[in-house]
Amino acid sequence: MSGVSVGDGGEVSGMSAGSGGDAGKLHQQIMALVEQYYAAAFAARAAFVPGETRIPYAGRVFDAAELLNLVDSSLEFWLTHGRYSDRLEEQLGAYLGIKHCYLVSSGSSANLLAFSALTSDRLGARKILRGDEVITVAAGFPTTVAPIVQYGAVPVFVDVDPATANVDVAQLEDAWSARTKAVFLAHTLGNPFDVATVQAFCEEYALWLIEDNCDALGAHYGGRLTGGFGHIGTSSFYPPHHMTMGEGGAVYTESDELGAIVRSLRDWGRDCECPSGVDNFCGRRFDRDFGTLPHGYDHKYVFSHFGFNFKVTEMQAAIGCAQLAKLPRFVEARRRNFATLSRLLAPLADVLALPQATADSEPSWFGFLMTLRDGGRDALVADLERRKIQTRMLFAGNMVRQPCFDAMRATHQGYRVVGDLAATDTIMNDAFWVGVYPGLSDEMLVYMAQSIATALGRRLD
Ligand SMILES: Cc1ncc(COP(=O)(O)O)c(C=O)c1O
Repeated sequence: MSGVSVGDGGEVSGMSAGSGGDAGKLHQQIMALVEQYYAAAFAARAAFVPGETRIPYAGRVFDAAELLNLVDSSLEFWLTHGRYSDRLEEQLGAYLGIKHCYLVSSGSSANLLAFSALTSDRLGARKILRGDEVITVAAGFPTTVAPIVQYGAVPVFVDVDPATANVDVAQLEDAWSARTKAVFLAHTLGNPFDVATVQAFCEEYALWLIEDNCDALGAHYGGRLTGGFGHIGTSSFYPPHHMTMGEGGAVYTESDELGAIVRSLRDWGRDCECPSGVDNFCGRRFDRDFGTLPHGYDHKYVFSHFGFNFKVTEMQAAIGCAQLAKLPRFVEARRRNFATLSRLLAPLADVLALPQATADSEPSWFGFLMTLRDGGRDALVADLERRKIQTRMLFAGNMVRQPCFDAMRATHQGYRVVGDLAATDTIMNDAFWVGVYPGLSDEMLVYMAQSIATALGRRLD
């Protein structure tokens, strides 16, 4: 084999991607062509034709910058965690104002990693044990709950507040037991939950708080960005989200202790902190004692956790860097689109319960959730889909009614429910949402609102 060779630890040796000479000139030509390609393939927008043009609930919004970064990183051919990944971790952490930020392969792996970090032996008596309870909601995305069940801890479901579809904080006290160790909650569709009450509850009972920020990047509560209120926060960069890298996510924490655990678990469970392609970062690679390993056993192969490999590729991170630069504009566009739909649909508030921002918050809306006051959701959704308006349910509806809960429901084991989850069931039966993503035009929003009115036998003047 000639040229580049890759060793077993992922180190690149031999030729590195050239930036000078012929390679440099070719790189410039390729970049110029990529810009031309973007203009030819993507820049022109087809005119919107009501009823014919599909109106998705979300989608990728990008320009030449994403393609340029992607191709640049491809040509560099580092492939795994590299300079773009470092840059994105640093810049996302800086944006959020959080000390440690780790890129991972998805929002679901971010949630699994965040939860798993709290089961680390390093936390001593504070670690979550199998059989410990974790308070959460059933109206949400399944992978906020899955890590709890997968580990053998017990999810305890409380109902949601119908006005915000977020946790009903009045039920938290009822949910607590001597085995409660953590609260794991998402900010529903970008609308923050009542952070002040949840944080006070967690402090009172010394509970961990995991903040699933996957649908809320850019949201504020009490003037601060969400994601940093929990001991650990998570993001998803799947295409419908506020920014995308195709697949991807992040885990962030202010705590040095949790940060080190998250990094170890993400990177195979290893103890060593050497960045990808670097050996002997700590300077004591062959000079330490671990477990009952022989003295000086290579620190690169010392494992302090039973870990995963949830790292991202450098190409994903390169796209993420270009997306993060656009994030503030994306969040503003989502807020504008939400305000437009709210204004247009206000006359239908007698039949449609419209979404309300949580007190003291400035949401970073993921979608526009509506609940039909007198039923008829399925017919309305079918009508909108016929009109090419894409709709979504609030994810799992009531998670406890999903088939993955069949065995647990049958035996009444492995989970607990507080009260009757009546508001959760109402959302499952009567609610749906449409998009507010930056790719929507005012024309589309007007058509969406008019279509909803028409389907309900009403007119908007
Ligand atoms: C609240 C929430 N958490 C986690 C996830 C999982 O993210 P991913 O699709 O990147 O695994 C999603 C997915 O959209 C989500 O809505």
